Amino acid sequence: MSTNDSKSRPDVIARHLVDVPRSGIRDFFEIVNSMQDVISLGIGEPDFDTPWHIREATIFAIERGATSYTSNLGLLKLRRAIADYVERTFALRYDAEQEILITVGVSEALDLAIRALCNPGDEIMYHEPCYVSYAPLIQFAHGIPVSVPTSSDHEFRVTRKALESRVTPKTKALLLNYPNNPTGAALTTKDAQDIADFVQENDLILITDEIYAELTYDRAHVSPASLPGMRERTIFLHGFSKAWAMTGFRAGYACAPPELTDAMMKIHQYTMLCAPSPSQEAALEALTDPEQDIADMKASYLKRRNFLLNSFREMGLSCFEPHGAFYAFPSIRDTGLSAQEFAMGLLDQEKVACVPGTAFGPSGEGFVRCSYATALDELKEAVQRMAAFLNRLK
Ligand SMILES: Cc1ncc(COP(=O)(O)O)c(C=O)c1O
Repeated sequence: MSTNDSKSRPDVIARHLVDVPRSGIRDFFEIVNSMQDVISLGIGEPDFDTPWHIREATIFAIERGATSYTSNLGLLKLRRAIADYVERTFALRYDAEQEILITVGVSEALDLAIRALCNPGDEIMYHEPCYVSYAPLIQFAHGIPVSVPTSSDHEFRVTRKALESRVTPKTKALLLNYPNNPTGAALTTKDAQDIADFVQENDLILITDEIYAELTYDRAHVSPASLPGMRERTIFLHGFSKAWAMTGFRAGYACAPPELTDAMMKIHQYTMLCAPSPSQEAALEALTDPEQDIADMKASYLKRRNFLLNSFREMGLSCFEPHGAFYAFPSIRDTGLSAQEFAMGLLDQEKVACVPGTAFGPSGEGFVRCSYATALDELKEAVQRMAAFLNRLK
């Protein structure tokens, strides 16, 4: 069937897909990519190379023949290494044989977790602004996405009051991501406890996407999954893309009690079969000395974050202190422009790309996401151009 045929027959495309909007980020970057000499603070991806020992180990693994299917759950030696790492880092013990599933990035793990839980019409709550895939994945699973707004007044941390205002008898699960993309918000221990109490009192499953967990600054990361009573009702998601700068390897994992892991595994075995074997070998190598690999990149992110925050304050943009990930989310409200107008104006006039906060949900209006996974020299040039743009608005 040609594209024209499908256009003339709108019923060809599944109805629940037609309702899903295109990603706002994708539209924005199509414009950015068509321009020359843009400094991008828009990309949600580390600017560091994957540590060399990980790349080298992957090459050797391929040489040794790591090119075939693995067990559907993933290499057992990798699952064992993950079990130890997760215990050491998150105070959560999972059984490598039955409770860990290696996935194609956290992206696949999110899809599996949602599909494993969702009956048509089930509501899944998630905070907003949030990573762009959450609501679409819930819709793909025939669920109903229920957003819980967060605000700069509470540093974009979800509050118990907001959660309580959106829960209904149809709510099945709560999906959270802290440290957060796009705001950089990180939970306090009290927030994590409030979430744990709410989830248990309402008999929900928690899906917690902790992909930025290693990248927290002046605040220890606390996983709500590690609090009493939570492990048995949590799907814990993590991966190697961000802290290890391994986005292209597509390596992630889901940890959950056996019943939930089995359900995710059913989908994974028929749709994906297994995560790519060279990437699993890479992930195994990444777990040989993770603290060392991550420390240097983290120190650099912290320096850039502080530079960016100070620069925003000097140019009169208010920005709460982001405690995690590699994003700052300054308020552009005082300019009188919408987030979209601000981002487009800055791109047109100064060739600096940052993402309008509305790409991550309506609560992102009045904010833009600036990624500091960008070299310091480029950040310095970007803030000068931003200051020039703001001066012209005065
Ligand atoms: C919050 C969040 N979850 C998941 C992902 C996807 O990660 P992966 O590369 O592991 O699929 C991203 C990527 O930007 C993200 O920001």
